[in-house]
Amino acid sequence: MNRKVTVVGGAGNVGATVARAIAQKELADVVIVDIADTKAAGVALDIYQSCPIEGSASRVIGVGTKDFSESANSDVVVITSGVPRKPGMSRDDLLSVNYKIMQDVTAEIVKHSPNCIIVPVANPLDAMSQAVFRLSKFPRERVIGMAGVLDSARMRAFLAEELQVSPADISCFVLGGHGDTMVPLARFSTVAGVPITELLSAERIEAISARTASGGAEITKLVGTSAWYAPGASAAAMVEAILKDSRRVMPCSVYLEGEYGINNLFVGVPVKLGARGVEQIIEISLTDVERAALHKSAASVRELVDVIKV
Ligand code: LAC
Repeated sequence: MNRKVTVVGGAGNVGATVARAIAQKELADVVIVDIADTKAAGVALDIYQSCPIEGSASRVIGVGTKDFSESANSDVVVITSGVPRKPGMSRDDLLSVNYKIMQDVTAEIVKHSPNCIIVPVANPLDAMSQAVFRLSKFPRERVIGMAGVLDSARMRAFLAEELQVSPADISCFVLGGHGDTMVPLARFSTVAGVPITELLSAERIEAISARTASGGAEITKLVGTSAWYAPGASAAAMVEAILKDSRRVMPCSVYLEGEYGINNLFVGVPVKLGARGVEQIIEISLTDVERAALHKSAASVRELVDVIKV
């Protein structure tokens, strides 16, 4: 195929899920790069052997981090490397260890794929995205953190269950940082165009919003490590929008330069995704309460960014 996507950390749960989704949809050839080199080769082989069944001509290879050159000239690089959460840990607890990993992998990505679009997935998501942005020196259009797609998907799933309707008809927006302060926007969350504020009581909306914000922790407690199916599917959906230049509007963590009154910080907002990466940051007018919640969430991202000084 003439498109290439590299998944760094692709032998891990999230990375393998992203790699598999991309191969299954025949979006591109996939290179899995992982510090666990033999595992990378094995996971890639397994995914590749699923392609004949799926009817996909994608090629999938797996290499160690010493063989980063195999990833050369990727169109998109997804970074899923990093330490996952254990029960009781917050995403923020991963800050310094994952920052060190971002330093190592970003240098390699820039060296081998200077024109790629990077989709960071490691936690704490917004701070790691900002680290990758600074380290890569890429324009802001080409560093797009995965968080809002996942958070919105969780909210859609909870609403589908609550209202007994297909999630296909549910659209949700969750803004802000990918942490406890994320901001599910009920006013812009709809079922076939009808705002959920018309369909559910304030108490139920509050409960679903709270469950959305702690959606990752709920799974970590049950499984013993971070979630991977929904995070992996979310990153793959972003890659698909980029490779197909489909201009889908998705909530993503991007570098704001005054939008929403926030400066020089990665925070989740609606963006239009296409071949150039971020084609547009979409500003919607918020109520005072919504705006205050977004700024509170941004302040908690700022605290983390200040610790690692990026
Ligand atoms: C989650 C982790 C991946 O939300 O941040 O599941």
